[in-house]
Amino acid sequence: MNQVIETILNHRSVRNFQDRPLSKEQIEQIVMSAQAASTSSFIQAYSIIGVKDQAKKDKLAEVVGNQPYVANNGHFFVFCADLHRHALIAEMENKDVLPSLESTEKFMVSLIDAALAAQNAAVAAESMDLGICYIGGIRNQLEEVQKILKTPGHVIPLFGMAVGYPEKINDKKPRLPLEHVYMENEYQQDPTVFKKQLEDYNKIISQYYKDRTGGKREDTWTEQIGQMLEKKSRMYMKEFVQKQKMDLR
Ligand SMILES: Cc1cc2nc3c(=O)[nH]c(=O)nc-3n(C[C@H](O)[C@H](O)[C@H](O)COP(=O)(O)O)c2cc1C
Repeated sequence: MNQVIETILNHRSVRNFQDRPLSKEQIEQIVMSAQAASTSSFIQAYSIIGVKDQAKKDKLAEVVGNQPYVANNGHFFVFCADLHRHALIAEMENKDVLPSLESTEKFMVSLIDAALAAQNAAVAAESMDLGICYIGGIRNQLEEVQKILKTPGHVIPLFGMAVGYPEKINDKKPRLPLEHVYMENEYQQDPTVFKKQLEDYNKIISQYYKDRTGGKREDTWTEQIGQMLEKKSRMYMKEFVQKQKMDLR
């Protein structure tokens, strides 16, 4: 196993950081790594906002649903789907770009680009022995986030990433077994196979929680996900996205 794969396989989210900021060089290396990711048709449809101002970090920690590690970390990044600079190309190149720019396809491209960049950033940070935690809570109150970060139209803050020197390291969470997610040649659709696999995975996850909590918690994966999916969340998203003039056609 090489070092890159070792770093990737050693991932676990970190939610307790030392009070020690990242250096300018570390931040730049993380952002450069993000930018090195592949990008659909070279469109580079994302921006990354590093939040240094402690008052803004404190406010963000609150609006993401009181997650203290958003305020207390070595650096906090927000990854945004961003077609703002592309809209300006219409003026520069005297082209009617909006019908294509404001489509579902370009919206998806911007999400994919931002996610690929973010995961490169995560791996780069972890390769420097830093810890990371993605923060989807950014999408809890996007109007507030938009005010804090002053993002314009054609920009959607997607998730944050808290990065820093780990204070506490969690156990690794076991993923679905490889053969559950990797299929060859065609999709395996048999529901009885899926259900048997889910039951097997439930045993793994239940044991994981039991060990991690000294027996206090032993819920299964399907219980956890069923409970999560039963509740509707962030149902304002379609309206918000369209207000930013994305996903319109
Ligand atoms: C897009 C995204 C958003 C996430 N949002 C949050 C969040 O708001 N708060 C949090 O504590 N963890 C968040 N996570 C971390 C996940 O809970 C975590 O990755 C998952 O439980 C697996 O655990 P692991 O990363 O330790 O392996 C997020 C992860 C992703 C990919």
